Amino acid sequence: MKISPVKKIRAKFIMPPDKSITHRVLILSSMANDKSKLYNLLNADDTKRTYNILKSLGINFKGDFNKLEVYPKPIREIEKPLYCGNSGTTARLISGYLSTQNGLFILYGDKSLSKRPMKRIILPLELMGAKIESRNGYLPLIIKGKNLKGIKYTLPIPSAQLKSAIILAALNSEGKTIIKGDKNSRDHTERLIKYMNGNIEIKNNVISVEKSNLEPLNFKVPGDFSSAAFFITLAILHSNAKIIIENVNLNPTRIGFLKILEQMNANIKYEVFENDPEPIGRVIAETSNELKGIEIPKELIPNAIDELPLLALIGLNAEGRTILKNAKELRVKESDRIKVVVENFKDLGIKIDELEDGFIVEGKQKITGGKIKTYNDHRIAMMFSILGLISKEGIDIDNINYVKISFPDFLKYIDNLNN
Ligand code: S3P
Repeated sequence: MKISPVKKIRAKFIMPPDKSITHRVLILSSMANDKSKLYNLLNADDTKRTYNILKSLGINFKGDFNKLEVYPKPIREIEKPLYCGNSGTTARLISGYLSTQNGLFILYGDKSLSKRPMKRIILPLELMGAKIESRNGYLPLIIKGKNLKGIKYTLPIPSAQLKSAIILAALNSEGKTIIKGDKNSRDHTERLIKYMNGNIEIKNNVISVEKSNLEPLNFKVPGDFSSAAFFITLAILHSNAKIIIENVNLNPTRIGFLKILEQMNANIKYEVFENDPEPIGRVIAETSNELKGIEIPKELIPNAIDELPLLALIGLNAEGRTILKNAKELRVKESDRIKVVVENFKDLGIKIDELEDGFIVEGKQKITGGKIKTYNDHRIAMMFSILGLISKEGIDIDNINYVKISFPDFLKYIDNLNN
């Protein structure tokens, strides 16, 4: 599919519902003590995996993803293995949950997910007493649910999926679980549990969790900032653009990208209107002619983890070099996002240096066009579509279908850049 340049952009968008929050409200409402009402859930491949697994385990759902009633029930063991598809959040969060449930559960995923590390969750869950078999630290996992005990654990990496897997297990374990070592990864799980009156406390970045009797949710999922990031990037890089994004989640642990863009002199403004349990607001992004390259501050990296590849695009219009280091985690996402960005840039005739833990992009480069490979990664497909829109001759994307993982209507938004 070819994405061709557009002349002028004036758009006001509401983004699809947040993916991370959708997974979490589905799981947490399944653990609540009564019926929840969820509104505006993301209807995309990844979140449907979590929904289908919960449903097959016996949770009762009524309605659709616009308005869903969740009737929690004790989980039942089923013979069939549980399919997580491409979704790391499903595999890791559901593992935390199932470790405490009676029965034997088998989790598997697609080719990409089967190459993503699961040892990071297996280790702490086993310390809590879980029985988990894996294929050398990768999917498939065989989980034998048990009564777990709380642990003290220092997270070796700032991963929200890892942190959440432990927290979900701790909600059904004996004693207190204390988690240290992660200042920056997204905190939706913690916020929602607090909102549901669960036993969770956060002090000086130390999280304490205990067995909880969660109250039901009545919750509307806000727009996904990670989806907004593609259009913010587009507005900044385009020579005649203004894009307004309304009702988007602006949780401080998600908007490292905005902080980085401010440091790069981008023409962006944002305001928060609502705060409980998740900050929601508006972002306005416009043509930015004064961009400057920077070295991305280390402490902002976990808050911008899914948006980091977009900084390679921003760097193309900046004065000077844009340097990303300390981002090795990008190598174990839906694809090796460092390698895939570097290879595609090279195929497009754009200069970039690959680092073990990031990349260096020279500023002020011309983008003519060409062909790229998505490596079956939804964010890579969308990132290079954005590049196509600001290129001279357009960009051919080998497989655009992967957008359905997180943003099924992505192409409709591109058709509406002048509304
Ligand atoms: C997510 C956490 C991040 C992120 C992913 C979604 C989540 O992964 O990259 O897209 O919903 O918790 P890590 O926890 O592996 O950093």
